[in-house]
Amino acid sequence: MEAHISTSEVLSARGIDLFYGQSHAVRGASIALSQGEVVAISGQSGSGKSSLLYCLAGVLPVVGGEVRFEGQPLGTLGDDELSALRRDRFGFVFQHGELLPELTVEENAALPLRLAGQRKAKALAAAGEVLGRLGLAELRERRPSQVSGGQNQRVAVARALVHRPTVVFADEPTGSLDSTNAATVLQEFLSLARSQGTAVVLVTHDPNVAARADIRYTMSDGVLAREQDMA
Ligand SMILES: Nc1ncnc2c1ncn2[C@@H]1O[C@H](COP(=O)(O)OP(=O)(O)O)[C@@H](O)[C@H]1O
Ligand SMILES: [Mg+2]
Repeated sequence: MEAHISTSEVLSARGIDLFYGQSHAVRGASIALSQGEVVAISGQSGSGKSSLLYCLAGVLPVVGGEVRFEGQPLGTLGDDELSALRRDRFGFVFQHGELLPELTVEENAALPLRLAGQRKAKALAAAGEVLGRLGLAELRERRPSQVSGGQNQRVAVARALVHRPTVVFADEPTGSLDSTNAATVLQEFLSLARSQGTAVVLVTHDPNVAARADIRYTMSDGVLAREQDMA
């Protein structure tokens, strides 16, 4: 396996702003992530954490400032390039799961590989492996409506990791999990970061999760601030 010992920057944002109409949801946020780095973002509900993730992942366009992936400003990419980037290089765990109801658990988890053109058997095998690590092997053939909310959330985590993306954005991925399953999910993110050099942006209100991150930020009224390291 390829070793990732360099600390090259994969994702950065400088002074980015996002508005919803008159509402200034992200105010001049700056952040940088290197390979294999796990960053936690905490903050009250409504402070702009999800909005910031959407900006960083190129889901919503920023106005001021810019977001760069591997040095390339996202604003310079066309729609197709941006879609391909999100599909192939990013993994995203949305706050509310968003699995496709007509697909089984394993088909949902395999989706990024299928979209990248991988054959079904191979994609399902890879999905099965990740699902197994997350304790979901038995549920592979069920539909999302036939598993619990916490299990849905873990399937969404499996889907975000299955294609070994360069950056994973996870919005409260442990929000509806008990502490044992939250620890399992966190361990998956950390081991992906350590073994594959994946950069992870984790929005969380759980101080135990944030404590395991390499860098911690807090968001308050749209303003992102890096926490001082407690030496
Ligand atoms: N689609 C939207 N349209 C208008 N306002 C929004 C939209 N999404 C979020 N907001 C507002 O932007 C602010 C930040 O929201 P959000 O990023 O969801 O915060 P958080 O994830 O920290 O709870 C809130 O005031 C919220 O009401
Ligand atoms: Mg949110």
